[in-house]
Amino acid sequence: MENSILDLINNHRSIRNFKHQSLSDEEVKTLVTAAKKASTSTFSQQYSIISVTDQEKLKEIDKITGNTHWMLSSGHYFVMVADQYRNLKIAERAGADPYILKTADKLLASVFDAGIATENLVLAAESMGMGATIMGSILNDSNKMIGLLDLPKLTFPLLGIAVGYPETIPEIKPRMPETLQHFTNGYQLDDQIGNWLPIYDDQMAKYYASRSTNSRQENFSNHIVSELSRNRKLRADLLENIVSQGFDVDGISK
Ligand SMILES: Cc1cc2nc3c(=O)[nH]c(=O)nc-3n(C[C@H](O)[C@H](O)[C@H](O)COP(=O)(O)O)c2cc1C
Repeated sequence: MENSILDLINNHRSIRNFKHQSLSDEEVKTLVTAAKKASTSTFSQQYSIISVTDQEKLKEIDKITGNTHWMLSSGHYFVMVADQYRNLKIAERAGADPYILKTADKLLASVFDAGIATENLVLAAESMGMGATIMGSILNDSNKMIGLLDLPKLTFPLLGIAVGYPETIPEIKPRMPETLQHFTNGYQLDDQIGNWLPIYDDQMAKYYASRSTNSRQENFSNHIVSELSRNRKLRADLLENIVSQGFDVDGISK
């Protein structure tokens, strides 16, 4: 089956090399509107979007995300924030007990909402001839992000999104065979992995070796294993910081 939306989805690639061209206010508004149209759990709209335009703050975020510098040349930088603070304010105005807003359930709902809205924003950008990279690396220092963006209790920074007009367009990264990821009526990986993982490893080895930037000798299995050797202290403070922001994720303090 083919249509323009499927074409857009199937042509996705993250963009990390941008033309130095700021997005117009209208473009930013279009992207934010597209994000906000996404489905939202219990219609609670429990996330916020922060546009970061202050160059000093952007430089700080660049440091947090690993000094890669390419995000600084994007046309616009968004940060997606889990947000139960707005609903706390609504509860306070109504004199209602806000406890439920602090639960792991509501934190997860915020994460789902923000994630789905993020993808809407990225697809909207791609439909307008732009590209984007979603950046979980803002979590390398979530405390610093909280301070930098003045985030109140019951909020948490989740993802950055660097958006802009691509300077270069990388190759599409092949996804794993459907047999490894889509099952019927139950989980069936063990029946599939021996046959299909080597085929995918081979495909990814060819992709990594032949791609136009950052080519290297790697396959999917090596990639997953190399992820396991990262510094264990990186982001080890996440749960603690989530609790400091007022979320009662272990449900202990009723
Ligand atoms: C939740 C999430 C966090 C991500 N964080 C980063 C990041 O911090 N830095 C980065 O360069 N790419 C990041 N990415 C982009 C992924 O690396 C990218 O989507 C993946 O390698 C597949 O490549 P593609 O998007 O070009 O198909 C992130 C993507 C997602 C969904």
